[in-house]
Amino acid sequence: MNHTDEFIQRDRGQHPPAHTPDYKSTVLRSPRLALFSLQNSLSEVTGPRFAQDALGPLDDDLIRNYAHGGEPIGERIVVHGWVRDENGRGVPGALIEVWQANAGGRYRHVNDTYLAPIDPNFGGCGRMMTDADGHYAFRTVKPGAYPFRNFVNSWRPAHIHFSLFGSGFAQRLITQMYFEGDPLIPRDQILSTIPDPAARQRLVAPLDFDAAIPLDSLAYRFDIVLRGRRSTVFENKLQGN
Ligand SMILES: [Fe+2]
Repeated sequence: MNHTDEFIQRDRGQHPPAHTPDYKSTVLRSPRLALFSLQNSLSEVTGPRFAQDALGPLDDDLIRNYAHGGEPIGERIVVHGWVRDENGRGVPGALIEVWQANAGGRYRHVNDTYLAPIDPNFGGCGRMMTDADGHYAFRTVKPGAYPFRNFVNSWRPAHIHFSLFGSGFAQRLITQMYFEGDPLIPRDQILSTIPDPAARQRLVAPLDFDAAIPLDSLAYRFDIVLRGRRSTVFENKLQGN
């Protein structure tokens, strides 16, 4: 693979516009000037890379990685999925970082003053790398919904924040995962900033009953697609891939 290959342009129809007044805080922070594209250079297409040995043994286990003599309160779940590029190839060695509220909907963060209690056994942060085929998994408790200061009575559906570093900085993706069946999803003013209903639906992880661990945890599956490199398509096959 030639590392100077261009990455496929982002499809802006799949991503929320910067200025979306129904999500109030975008009004002040969105850029006033038109964006311009920069040519990919070596620093965006080759790095940064992360090694498994930088991770701690409990980094992918949010049930245990902040526990102090007990376990966090909440519904135990496994979240897993497959990270691929736009050509359908698994992305190995991608760093995935996740953060979330506890089961009551409260973040362990100084700026979160929601009245739900802090869970002494739950930190809400984790990280992991994709395996050789691009798969990942982590264990946690299902986060709660929480109100936020947007308009009167604005509530976030239960969600987990994701940050991904793929094979190069040009594949960086920051997104949120939602849970199948949550009645707050269609009311969410942040998810609604994504214009395409099909793209919104891709952020809703279905219950994966076959991956549930009997008498232990339910499971949700969240597959992720990062930008791919440009490839020549030949008779519906990717030439040279
Ligand atoms: Fe959040």
